[in-house]
Amino acid sequence: MSDRILEVEDLSVTLERGGKEITPVQNVSVSLGRGEALGIAGESGCGKSLTLKSIIGLLPPGAIVGGDLRFALDREEPISYESADVHGHGIAIIFQEPMTALNPTMRVGDLIAEGPKIHHGLDRREARERAIELMRLVGIPSPEKRARMWPHQLSGGLRQRVMIAAALSTEPKLLLCDEPTTALDVSIQDQILGLLQELRTRLDMSIIFVSHDLAVIGELCDRIAIMYAGQVVEKGPVDEVFADPKHPYTEALMHSVPSFQQTTEKLEGIEGAPPDPGSFPDGCRFAPRCRYVRDDCATASYALVQIGERRETGCIHPELLEGIGS
Ligand SMILES: Nc1ncnc2c1ncn2[C@@H]1O[C@H](COP(=O)(O)OP(=O)(O)OP(=O)(O)O)[C@@H](O)[C@H]1O
Ligand SMILES: [Mg+2]
Repeated sequence: MSDRILEVEDLSVTLERGGKEITPVQNVSVSLGRGEALGIAGESGCGKSLTLKSIIGLLPPGAIVGGDLRFALDREEPISYESADVHGHGIAIIFQEPMTALNPTMRVGDLIAEGPKIHHGLDRREARERAIELMRLVGIPSPEKRARMWPHQLSGGLRQRVMIAAALSTEPKLLLCDEPTTALDVSIQDQILGLLQELRTRLDMSIIFVSHDLAVIGELCDRIAIMYAGQVVEKGPVDEVFADPKHPYTEALMHSVPSFQQTTEKLEGIEGAPPDPGSFPDGCRFAPRCRYVRDDCATASYALVQIGERRETGCIHPELLEGIGS
């Protein structure tokens, strides 16, 4: 029996771009408990989506060049190596843009019924009934009527719910969410977050929630991993990390997000842009943008160091952050 549903250890992803090999995800380690929600945050291009795709087995063969992925999707099982087979058997993913993820040539009800039909051996009629039940569960009004519609006939918010229903149709133990609410307006965003929260409790589902919106992660998640330039730079319980960041990047990120800034202080954007995977700097990858940078940062090798009971930071000078930056 395992309390952990997932362990990602030292994951590295290498892809080809323009004839050159890049490693946009390097030595990423995260773990997830049963029923737990982990947030992953970081600027565009830092490797969040590639990390999720690695977990669910959506990367081309050979892209995962290092590390281990271990799962214990069934409570009774010890944590062990499983692979692509997990796709559809316990893990589901929700993407940001429902229009590109939903097959436009299938009616909404059939889209949702696919999962139960394939994975639970239901016949057509049973699968359709299950689809309507799921539509009700995710709060789609008049599900019988909407089941007969095409994806493009629904609003963005409803399409997102259809995608959630399709993801849930396989009864996943682990739900991966890749910015699932970014494209939606705030009230629908709130509804969907509430729904995820409720389903998590009801189905004892574990969630990894990728978002650039720290406030949303604060609402939904127990723990957070902050990524920068393909690496996890800080990890810990969400409330502790937000109350007292231990990596300059986390601090900078918190100060640059309007929805997160609780005070009326002016927003400080993070100066400069994150490096491209083709040209990650040596040493600490954040050093060139860091306001606390010291000489030895340029040669620091990457390691997450335990700091406090449940916290880890990749910064070699976390003491510099104390009492500064607010
Ligand atoms: N199939 C691919 N081939 C080559 N490079 C890729 C591929 N997919 C992603 N990348 C590169 O890898 C880096 C990380 O991509 P990823 O999609 O994981 O970022 P992200 O953190 O999800 O960003 P965003 O917030 O914009 O969604 C980016 O620089 C991206 O250009
Ligand atoms: Mg992404």
